[in-house]
Amino acid sequence: MRKSDDAGEILVVDDGLEFSAAVTRLLTARGYHVSTAVDGAQALASIGENQPDVVLLDVMMPGLDGFEICRQIKRNPRTRLVPVVLVTGLTSREDRMRGIEVGADDFLAKPPDWQELMARVQSLVRLKRATDDLESAESVMVSLAMAIEIRDPYTKGHCQRLANYAAALGESLHLSEEDIEALHLGGFLHDLGKISIPDSVLLKPGPLSDDEMTVMKQHPIVGARLCEGLRSLRRVHPIVRHHHERLDGTGYPDGLMRDEIPLLAQVLSIVDIYDALTTPRPYRRAVTRDEACAILLSESARGWRNEDLVQEFFAIGRPRRLDRPESNWTARIRAGLQANGSHVIAGAAHRTPARAGAVEGAALLRVSA
Ligand SMILES: [Fe+2]
Repeated sequence: MRKSDDAGEILVVDDGLEFSAAVTRLLTARGYHVSTAVDGAQALASIGENQPDVVLLDVMMPGLDGFEICRQIKRNPRTRLVPVVLVTGLTSREDRMRGIEVGADDFLAKPPDWQELMARVQSLVRLKRATDDLESAESVMVSLAMAIEIRDPYTKGHCQRLANYAAALGESLHLSEEDIEALHLGGFLHDLGKISIPDSVLLKPGPLSDDEMTVMKQHPIVGARLCEGLRSLRRVHPIVRHHHERLDGTGYPDGLMRDEIPLLAQVLSIVDIYDALTTPRPYRRAVTRDEACAILLSESARGWRNEDLVQEFFAIGRPRRLDRPESNWTARIRAGLQANGSHVIAGAAHRTPARAGAVEGAALLRVSA
């Protein structure tokens, strides 16, 4: 846990004890807490244990070299946001390119200019702590969204499934990594605004009256407002605001038409409808997957949904194992929820960071193949 009076936690990884000792002396004199490691195994163990704010990493070491250690730090969802500075005598363009490829955040020549090293460390610690705060804000939002799901037992698991389905469809559409992450997070946050809907409406065991529907239609507006101001949610905001729009303009809250509706919101709305239809409600049974697909196609025919997106969603349904590695987003969300004391559904499906065919959630879909 971070101590607010700390200047920062720094890990120095170097097999040269003289260099480590010199850096440690300088950093501790300025209030940093320093841990050291002499090889890759020690470094990776120390990162897990000490959660450093910055890693100063030598490149030329026996066993795992600095490039490989950096690669492993950046691959691990739990450590990928820790800034890594390669401190090295290797200064060729190729070495710098390799450092960038493995995710290094900065380079310092060896022997370093000590003043410059201190300035870089200070700046990176500040950056790391800002990132930590942002992550906390996202986690709070997700926890809020999960609280809504807990209020309504009939929607249990809905957010997790939506996150998986939406990310799978995004991958199938070859969207950017950022868009896919937004879809994944949007699965959790799309109904955030339902926090403002009274139980008498949200939990009503039957169709809503016109007045109640008017109340319910506020949830995308409220949810979008809650996401405003968080820069890290700027791609999720349109999903939250527009996931109930229809292509013919009869949706809500803004009555947008066709291309006015953000693509990510269209993607989320298709998987949202699919999941809502295939899970039971107090006033109706769950429809079968084939029935849900038929309904989505009929909504396309009415001009409400983009048929290409609907067909793409059907096409990704093929058998997949559900025990894939967690994505970065899922790991962060899971860590955030657990930090907030929430229960996290174990063994749920997750997309993989790799683009190729990561359609785990869609394993549940198998509708047309
Ligand atoms: Fe909604």
